[in-house]
Amino acid sequence: MSKIIPYNKNLKNIKPYEPGKSNSRNKSKLPLIKLSSNETCLDFSNATKKKINKINVKLSVYPDSQANTLRDKISKLYKIGKKNIIFGNGSDEIFFLICNAFLSKGLEGLYSKYGFLIYPLAIKAAGAKAVFALEKNYRSNISNLISKANKNTRVCFIANPNNPTGTYLTKSEIKQLREQLPPSCLLVIDSAYSEYVTQKDYSDSISYAKKRTDVVVTHTFSKMFGLSSLRLGWAYCPENIAKVLEKIRPAFNINAYAQQIGNLVLDDKNFLKKSIEHNYYWTNWLSKEFEKLEIKVIPSVANFVTIILKNSYNANMFAKRLEKENIFVRKLNAYKMSNCIRITVGTELQNKTLIKFSKKILQELK
Ligand SMILES: Cc1ncc(COP(=O)(O)O)c(C=O)c1O
Repeated sequence: MSKIIPYNKNLKNIKPYEPGKSNSRNKSKLPLIKLSSNETCLDFSNATKKKINKINVKLSVYPDSQANTLRDKISKLYKIGKKNIIFGNGSDEIFFLICNAFLSKGLEGLYSKYGFLIYPLAIKAAGAKAVFALEKNYRSNISNLISKANKNTRVCFIANPNNPTGTYLTKSEIKQLREQLPPSCLLVIDSAYSEYVTQKDYSDSISYAKKRTDVVVTHTFSKMFGLSSLRLGWAYCPENIAKVLEKIRPAFNINAYAQQIGNLVLDDKNFLKKSIEHNYYWTNWLSKEFEKLEIKVIPSVANFVTIILKNSYNANMFAKRLEKENIFVRKLNAYKMSNCIRITVGTELQNKTLIKFSKKILQELK
């Protein structure tokens, strides 16, 4: 008889990440409205689409391990050194690289209570203790974070703006956090949604990180750049950190299509401008429409809005009823926000359809 192989004890308390729901296998006749994973609903310009269609990759050859063409482009656009860039198979991979490089048993990784779920997962997988700090009004709180940090805290993750709340920390709050964290703690600022933010007191923090040796800023092509399926993320790292992460980065983690398409999309200025305008208009519109229905909305600067329902029963029923209309939104039970629902901004038609059914469902739930 074969034996059960004992596995890494660090994984005992880890539940696999549950992605946003969709019904790709369901044969509903209704159009699918997937608002559960914060993907963009917009398309690239025709010129970019044509260029993408012309890409010719020799599939038998490994991709460029250093993604040099894309590296050059990002280095110019973001005014950062080529040696300061590390690529990941999505920014998720970079979080795991950071945890594996800087954490181990006896050390701690810090995050905000409603921070992105991958952080505690990556922290625990590295054998460290995942410690969270309470938030105030669904916003990360600097004093609470500082009070949870100690000499064993080696990494602190902040999503700015945060998913699933959509709230953000100002430039000065980020500076305050960094200056009060222990010097041996690396601050990781996850800027997955930064491109959408129009607030003047906000920054993705790269210019701040450039002045320090202890701040990493991650970016992704999965959100505004519309390339979730290609899995492409990158981070600005001080050189000392980049060198360490390179030791364990899988050599060919960025496939050739991701490298070439990422490069093209960065040039599609019309698409990027349209994305910011569309998002600004429709996050505000959705928030106002829910408020008219007497539903509380967490103020969001990202590409989604999170609504607060009366209780978890209502939230569950709301999501379930929408599913019957082939509309998928995100339940937040895994974040211990079971009375909340996160909804990605869609096209005009999708947003209006969502509100039409929300009115009906919320009336029934009263
Ligand atoms: C805050 C935040 N960071 C990172 C990611 C993951 O991005 P990627 O697709 O680059 O792994 C997500 C995805 O939803 C996110 O919400």
